[in-house]
Amino acid sequence: MTAPQQQPNHPGKSPQQVLVTGFFALLIPLLAVAALANSFFGGPAYEKDNATSAKAKAVRLQKVGTVELRDANRPLSTGEQVFKAQCSACHATGAAGSPKLGDAAAWGPRIATGFEALVHSALKGKGAMAPQGGGNFNDTEVARGVAYMANAAGAKFAEPEPPAK
Ligand code: HEC
Repeated sequence: MTAPQQQPNHPGKSPQQVLVTGFFALLIPLLAVAALANSFFGGPAYEKDNATSAKAKAVRLQKVGTVELRDANRPLSTGEQVFKAQCSACHATGAAGSPKLGDAAAWGPRIATGFEALVHSALKGKGAMAPQGGGNFNDTEVARGVAYMANAAGAKFAEPEPPAK
């Protein structure tokens, strides 16, 4: 019905607004150039820190996949070492109903199930025994611990070797 009203103060045309727009139009490219220059020539302070700190050097020098490499290459513990470090907590005394080291009567029926079955129990856990005997050894070492204990009770299992790479 009525014609669209003319805006009384049309935006973007006042002298102040032209100034403000011009200011930002200059500022933004300037900031961008400054940021670029900084990343080429200087780098933010935290990056310089990182580049020289001892930790940063260690990170750059570390081998890729250190954890795996160390685990794969470290000498394996013997069955006796594994037993002393870990399995002995229960098996030295027969704690928690475990077959005691050297107790042929307790070990005999278990040895009869075969080495694989015993290793399986030690790796997966059985009864009160947690998987891996509850600890930090790898599978080969746990198997060595099994062989050590079973042999102490009359078995003749060979000390297992790590799987070929
Ligand atoms: C927390 C106590 C505990 C620790 C530590 C422990 N065991 Fe046991 N282990 C037991 C108990 C209890 C049993 C008997 C489980 C059953 O027959 O129910 C057992 C049984 C076994 C058996 C016989 C499994 C079977 O099938 O009859 C083997 C082999 C064995 N342990 C190996 C190990 C090895 C190797 C370690 C160390 C890496 C270890 N254990 C550490 C408690 C322990």
